[in-house]
Amino acid sequence: MRNIDEDTITQAVIARHAQAPDARLRDIMTSLVQHLHAFAREVKLTEAEWFAGIQFLTDTGHMCNDKRQEFILLSDTLGLSMLVTAMNHRRPPGCTEATVLGPFHVEDNQRYELGADITNGAPGEPCYVRGHVRGLDGEAVAGAELQVWQADADGFYDVQYEGLDQHRARGTLHSAADGSFHFKTVVACEYPVPTDGPGGKMLKALGRHAWRPAHLHFMIAAPGYRRLITHIFRNGDRYLDSDAVFGVRSSLIADWVRHEPGTAPDGTQSATPFYTLDFDFVLEKE
Ligand code: BEZ
Ligand code: FE
Repeated sequence: MRNIDEDTITQAVIARHAQAPDARLRDIMTSLVQHLHAFAREVKLTEAEWFAGIQFLTDTGHMCNDKRQEFILLSDTLGLSMLVTAMNHRRPPGCTEATVLGPFHVEDNQRYELGADITNGAPGEPCYVRGHVRGLDGEAVAGAELQVWQADADGFYDVQYEGLDQHRARGTLHSAADGSFHFKTVVACEYPVPTDGPGGKMLKALGRHAWRPAHLHFMIAAPGYRRLITHIFRNGDRYLDSDAVFGVRSSLIADWVRHEPGTAPDGTQSATPFYTLDFDFVLEKE
């Protein structure tokens, strides 16, 4: 085909993919080309703007390594990650809602007994987290694997510290026979998503802030139930309505209750104020 012009180019590209052996890939690429071309037409994309876009994506690629995934940060801050999560994790009413995984989950987690202190030196005020894992009929989910991770008082995850060779404020526990779990950690704090790369440059150019409200991440898995990836968000946080990655759900907001020095839930005497957080998770059957 020759003499393709601005009116015929979209169909010409789509036709070129007609024989793609993978039908799903063909459908995705057809839609992508249609939307990409429609976008360029709609904004009347100039050559300089096209090149700025190419440069931006090139810089994004250069920022990626085995510890940093700048493309996911773009997906997060443009709402694509939350859209994909919401579409793929529709839950019946009563089940705990899912939210974004984020970049700070690690596969190899330290395992703890119930009641353990997972702080491991992370800075922050003490916090006792308690709750249950249940099914939609109220049944206890025993032996559910709970992976938990969070930012410390300085707004950093353990994996963001250079040279730290132990996990901090992160660990894996298993629910008891009655579905209950409890552990000690530090109070989760609000923090900005990384801003030292193209993702941060984009947020600044768009007049957006980079902050996420304080939250505690959970990944909960149990045989016979759908895996749940979610956060508990801290009630009262100033960023609940402007989360940089659009992940807040009202049903996931809970109170971190402050207590004066005294007897802590684990029976020890706390010389400093401490917090408690109670939250029950409801899983959907597979
Ligand atoms: C997080 O909650 O860990 C997170 C999610 C998306 C982007 C950056 C951080
Ligand atoms: Fe987080």
